[in-house]
Amino acid sequence: MGAKELRGHIDICTPDQIAGWALGDNGQIPEIVIEADSKYICSLRPDIFRTDLNAVAGFRHRFAPTLTNAVSIRAYFADTGKDLANSPFDLKYRLETPSEKDVAWRRAVELPPASEMKLVAGSGSADSFVNQGTRMARVVAGEIVDFFGEFRKDLRILDFGCGVGRVLLPISRTHAARWFACDVNEGAIAYLKSAVPEIQSARTNFTPPLPFEDNAFDCVYSISIWTHLSMDMQLPWLAEIRRILRPGGLALISTSGGHVVDVRQRRGDMGWGELNSESLVKAGYLYRPYSSEALPGIDGSYGLAAHDPNFIQRVWSQIMPVLTTRVRAIEAMQDLNVLTKV
Ligand SMILES: C[S@@+](CC[C@H](N)C(=O)[O-])C[C@H]1O[C@@H](n2cnc3c(N)ncnc32)[C@H](O)[C@@H]1O
Repeated sequence: MGAKELRGHIDICTPDQIAGWALGDNGQIPEIVIEADSKYICSLRPDIFRTDLNAVAGFRHRFAPTLTNAVSIRAYFADTGKDLANSPFDLKYRLETPSEKDVAWRRAVELPPASEMKLVAGSGSADSFVNQGTRMARVVAGEIVDFFGEFRKDLRILDFGCGVGRVLLPISRTHAARWFACDVNEGAIAYLKSAVPEIQSARTNFTPPLPFEDNAFDCVYSISIWTHLSMDMQLPWLAEIRRILRPGGLALISTSGGHVVDVRQRRGDMGWGELNSESLVKAGYLYRPYSSEALPGIDGSYGLAAHDPNFIQRVWSQIMPVLTTRVRAIEAMQDLNVLTKV
């Protein structure tokens, strides 16, 4: 069985259990080996019928209570030694499902169309969009409180590249402030204008400048934008964020670090197969444009980027001081860079 013929994914991993799926292209049921902190735990074969895959491909294994202190769980194909996607799974970074109370904001707003939620949240379910947004909003709000000492309602805060408001909706429904949003996507802005008319949302251009005055904002945050920007675009946009921030203001910008590069490599994302976190440390910054066949209409200035925190310190700090990089703070994937304007 060749490596390319086997596919699989870890869906759930907690100190109690691991669950996911694995499948051979011809319907073979592959053997999976599970390790915790590099120690063998068990081998198994999928034995659960998965309707989404229309095959016996699902597996679930309950760990013994002694596993509670393990950090890294690996699942790989016995035949090839190749990891399932999402493996190794780092328990330190596992995501909690927000409580009913945490997601109560969703009842106060009409959520975007499912197709739009799917574009950013992957699975397309409203729950994923709501849960991801709620977790990310908590991280962003936590940084704002840490920086300003409190969340004040006179703070002017911009979501740059807001999309259909995955973060903007939960954060603005749960924290009073003067909220602003902008994105190049006209449809996303039309949705926000109708769903949350009190937020000043603007459709903006692919290149600077933004239609905002110098020093207009106390805080600008931007999630999953620099993860797509080419070198040509990332520094001009950083300089533009600096222009619209007031001195002493806060910028929160997410980037993809070594962990994401390793995930892209394991997933076999186009152009990332030869790269890993070590290549990122060496290069500082990596970028691969989306192919125009995969995404018609996309040009070479939009693709997948990755930044090493040392590169960010060295290069971005020339534009704005970088106070810190919170590794994997966003959904246990992207890093969150904390910058200020002096
Ligand atoms: C991956 S989505 C993230 C959306 C949102 N921040 C979130 O986390 O759900 C990237 C967004 O960036 C927007 N975008 C890309 N380039 C932009 C630019 N130069 N100015 C403003 N928005 C941009 C896209 O239209 C898209 O909505």
